[in-house]
Amino acid sequence: MPVIGRLNIVVTGGAGFIGSHLCDRLVQKGHAVTCVDNLYTGRFENIRPLLNHRNFRFVEGDVREPLAVDGPVDRIYNLACPASPPHYQRDPIGTVKTCVLGALHALELARSTGARVLQASTSEVYGDPEIHPQPESYRGSVNTTGPRACYDEGKRCAEALFFDYRRMYGVPVKVARIFNTYGPRMLENDGRVISNFVVQALRNRPITLYGDGSQTRSFCYVEDLLNGLELLMESDDAVTGPFNLGNPREVTVKEIARMVLEQTGSRSRLAYHPLPQDDPRRRKPEIAAAAQALGWQPRVPLEDGLRSTIDYFALKVATPEVPRPAEKADAVVLANRPPRKRRTALSAVAGQA
Ligand SMILES: NC(=O)c1ccc[n+]([C@@H]2O[C@H](COP(=O)([O-])OP(=O)(O)OC[C@H]3O[C@@H](n4cnc5c(N)ncnc54)[C@H](O)[C@@H]3O)[C@@H](O)[C@H]2O)c1
Repeated sequence: MPVIGRLNIVVTGGAGFIGSHLCDRLVQKGHAVTCVDNLYTGRFENIRPLLNHRNFRFVEGDVREPLAVDGPVDRIYNLACPASPPHYQRDPIGTVKTCVLGALHALELARSTGARVLQASTSEVYGDPEIHPQPESYRGSVNTTGPRACYDEGKRCAEALFFDYRRMYGVPVKVARIFNTYGPRMLENDGRVISNFVVQALRNRPITLYGDGSQTRSFCYVEDLLNGLELLMESDDAVTGPFNLGNPREVTVKEIARMVLEQTGSRSRLAYHPLPQDDPRRRKPEIAAAAQALGWQPRVPLEDGLRSTIDYFALKVATPEVPRPAEKADAVVLANRPPRKRRTALSAVAGQA
């Protein structure tokens, strides 16, 4: 990766799982980072260590509204969006708006400041894939009317916007299709395989398997993903992607459960439940394009990544939640909150869903 000087970087969704690790890394590299997040699934404790850093600013804001960021901007990582099914399905219309309006507002900010902008897209754009593994050229198999469509179609529309902004206005865009990522700071109640299994195992509760557990996933450790995102962001303007970023090692969900049981020494048993609607049967990225264009490869073995994730959750499970601190008011810039009327409308919609 070329050596770059101090940059002004906006990370939307920077208080979330991936975003907070990204903020850590960018601040440590000497960049000035503005994190914009509405704390829908993000947590203040993820960014608390950064709050007193002179190169870090937290803006409590919503990407469904235009982004009000002062000063120069060189890079925008657009990560704001709930990523796990229970969270994005809780307010599906809000999710579509976050995907589509969030992308639009990130692109508008890039257009007005001359910044590069990277979209955190997803393997979900492939839906329940008919080909395996999935290369970037595969157009996907998404059920447009199912319960995952708010996320899948929202992310697909965001990709379309990114490439239209490039064609229409020459905005330097980058699109990463992220496959299942795991690591410390995942939410324990988000229904994702690894966090679910680890927390259940640590509590000696039954491990929830859907179907017969033979469906496959491939899991990328968060540090590996960050390397890919950064390499993509700092690649030449001609390099746009979309690029799959994920770990091609494919494992069945049942194998993961066994690995977690072994590493935690848990007494949990396996409990089988019906498969949810539109649950993908197989997921595995084809990563040759990212390897060739970016020189990127995931390096952290699943066993090692699982160990640090288990260590993180072991501490969390044993520690009560810390309330949001009083110092927040000094550290936080309140911006572009949706007007109260709109908020009410959104929660009314969520209540009907
Ligand atoms: N984790 C994965 O395995 C994975 C896989 C594919 C794609 N992605 C994408 O990567 C990004 C980050 O995912 P994550 O796993 O860190 O999820 P996360 O839920 O932990 O983080 C998302 C962040 O976005 C914030 N957010 C949500 N809606 C917002 C809005 N309207 N305005 C401002 N902030 C908002 C949340 O509060 C949270 O901090 C998402 O865009 C997700 O779609 C993640």
